[in-house]
Amino acid sequence: MSTDRQREQWGSKLGLILAVAGNAVGLGNFLRFPVQAAQNGGGAFMIPYFLFFLLLGIPLMWMEWGIGRHGGKYGHGSAPGMFDVICKHKAAKYFGSIGLLISIVIMIYYTLIESWTLGFSFLSLTQHYFDQTSFESMKSYLYSYQGREVTDLFSGIGISYIFFLVTFVINFWVLYRGISKGIEKLAKIAMPLLFFFAIILAIRVITLGTPDPNFPDRNIASGFAYLWNPNFAELAKPSVWLAAAGQIFFTLSVGMGTIQAYASYLKPKDDIALSGLTTASTNEFAEVVLGGSIAIPAAVAFFGITMTTQIAMGGAFDLGFVSMPLIFEQIPFGHFFGFIWFLLLFFAGITSSVAMGQPVIAFLEDELKFDRKKAVAILASVVFISVQFVIFYLKYGFLDELDYWAGTFGLVVFALLETILFMWIFDSNLAWEEMNEGGDIKIPRIFYYIMKFITPVILLIIMIWWFVDNALPTLLMKNVLPENVPYIWGARALMLVLCGSLFLTIHYAWKKNYNKGN
Ligand code: PHE
Repeated sequence: MSTDRQREQWGSKLGLILAVAGNAVGLGNFLRFPVQAAQNGGGAFMIPYFLFFLLLGIPLMWMEWGIGRHGGKYGHGSAPGMFDVICKHKAAKYFGSIGLLISIVIMIYYTLIESWTLGFSFLSLTQHYFDQTSFESMKSYLYSYQGREVTDLFSGIGISYIFFLVTFVINFWVLYRGISKGIEKLAKIAMPLLFFFAIILAIRVITLGTPDPNFPDRNIASGFAYLWNPNFAELAKPSVWLAAAGQIFFTLSVGMGTIQAYASYLKPKDDIALSGLTTASTNEFAEVVLGGSIAIPAAVAFFGITMTTQIAMGGAFDLGFVSMPLIFEQIPFGHFFGFIWFLLLFFAGITSSVAMGQPVIAFLEDELKFDRKKAVAILASVVFISVQFVIFYLKYGFLDELDYWAGTFGLVVFALLETILFMWIFDSNLAWEEMNEGGDIKIPRIFYYIMKFITPVILLIIMIWWFVDNALPTLLMKNVLPENVPYIWGARALMLVLCGSLFLTIHYAWKKNYNKGN
């Protein structure tokens, strides 16, 4: 059943590693991680975090590389085709639609957030927000930029819409250029710059000392202590464990279908074992060492612990787009540091968002035999139309609803599904061979047992727990403001329409290609 057409390939091993690392290193590393750690017990959060890294993150990373390279051998770059190869049941391919749905839904809101980072890098350089000196006024600045609030700071949503268009065009241009000339080339430029900027910022933060001598307890040492001092009592809360698992999924980009898509462009004997490990470790370095040394410690040094706790409660956007700008105003060359902070986020974002687009492109190319131009045009239209709702209904919780189902709950569901399919239905020994074939290292045998028994059991527990604890209340709109209800339904309708379209397309494609639809 191998394809008649030549599939694309990665240009070099380094390029591939940078591309997969770029896929994983994203806004999650610099904004989501510090907020999650600060909210969930500081240093103590790292215990469940590393445990889940070993028991879920790394095993899923290897399995996804394995599933992806295996699917690629049969000409499939997205989950429906891959699942069809590893499980002969005719329903398997439909389950694969979850992998496409998750990545496309995340792409819809993620590119928007990414565009704010690009916008703010210019607004830093031009010192446009430098008159906003209080937390409230900076927040209102951000809200006006996003079009949630009308003030005289921006005339409408125009500026942010332009930055969105620029971001959108760059994303789809990269996707249009393809695997080695687009995605790989982008990663080769953006990843080194991203690390360079992050290291400069981390050094700047570490050398902040005590910014205001009137407040001697607001200093950088207490900033690091705040983030890293363990509060073990927090470990008694299941929510802390769930948060750690959620962060591991999101940051490593596992449970989404994007790693598999990248791996499908490997050659059959290319290494998986070492490459999977390298990309996961690179992501952890960027997250824990760099992501943990910038925004939160700096906030403590400038605003103190009480205020930082409030900022962290406000979420990742308050930390990145409100607290950081207030700091840049106060340090020498602040406009320059602001510029590189937001540009760092932009590079982290774009190397992830193109990854979210690739599974759908691969799906349209491999299963419908569309050429890349047509595939990119279709995906671009779907994303462009859908994102309008996110932009204009932002204040009604539209984005949060998409993020919950696709960016949190969906990941565990999809990860559980693929683990069962690969390690139980496909055959654990074949799966193990696939992951080790061509490997530059041997995956320690213990991971065989982890992948087969421990990973699925933990995933199942997390899924059930999450379902009862927050998916059900979210589904029933327990904490939704009455005026937001129609918009939340709108977000769900959008996801259902996308899901339905994927189902129909899968049905049509299989009928046409293999004459064994339904
Ligand atoms: N891992 C990315 C981050 O940390 C997010 C991402 C989600 C990337 C989905 C690819 C697919 O921000």
